[in-house]
Amino acid sequence: MTGQNGIRLARKKRIEASTALDGDADRLVQYYRAWAGCYELDVEREHYRSPLVVAELAGAVQAAYMDKERAAIAILDAGCGTGLLGIELDQLGFRLIDGFDLSETMADMARQTGIYRNVQGDIDLNRPLSDYSSASYDMTVCCGVFMLGHVSPHGLRELARATRRNGFVVVSTERIYAEATSFETEVLRLQEEGVLTPVQYLSNGRYIGEDEAHYWAFQVHRAPGGNGNNLG
Ligand SMILES: C[S@@+](CC[C@H](N)C(=O)[O-])C[C@H]1O[C@@H](n2cnc3c(N)ncnc32)[C@H](O)[C@@H]1O
Repeated sequence: MTGQNGIRLARKKRIEASTALDGDADRLVQYYRAWAGCYELDVEREHYRSPLVVAELAGAVQAAYMDKERAAIAILDAGCGTGLLGIELDQLGFRLIDGFDLSETMADMARQTGIYRNVQGDIDLNRPLSDYSSASYDMTVCCGVFMLGHVSPHGLRELARATRRNGFVVVSTERIYAEATSFETEVLRLQEEGVLTPVQYLSNGRYIGEDEAHYWAFQVHRAPGGNGNNLG
């Protein structure tokens, strides 16, 4: 094996290993603490497309449906990681961007971009987002987090909760995650409850390397109910 192939294989293994953490908060925190230093290099080398696609979709939603100009739209970036999505959103003219992540190490790197208004670490999307008031954002976005080993589909309910009435939720779901979990059932359930409706869907889009993702935009109509425990 050449040196380059070895490096590529190690990079792919780090990316794949992140999907085998069973949604266990402690393991995820540990994993991302160790990976944070080379995360951006790893995903950029594998042509990570999701932040660009999610940001462009958020931009299209704003242009198509929202009266406010981009600079005045309050956005919450859930699982913001090192801030790659924030950087794309900033380039499109969004300015009021908050973020949170389970990993304090990743959150700290997002802070260092200087793009976010506020970034909180140690926030678990598999639990109620009690640090965020209901209906406080015009838009919530989430990129590369609805993936195997990370966040359960119930996280979508929490994103809807943090989003104001008539606001929007824009997310990516790794294709194999969508196949393996009940994400679409969660979407149907939220639709039946009158919480949200899909307004845009890009299926089998580019994600990272050879992997694909689906991209969703939902409009939120009312606050969801819930049992207060996403893991249940
Ligand atoms: C693949 S990275 C994506 C980061 C960023 N959104 C991006 O696109 O570069 C996944 C991120 O989700 C975070 N994460 C994993 N599980 C989480 C959870 N339960 N709640 C909040 N964040 C979580 C990880 O710490 C990591 O920063």
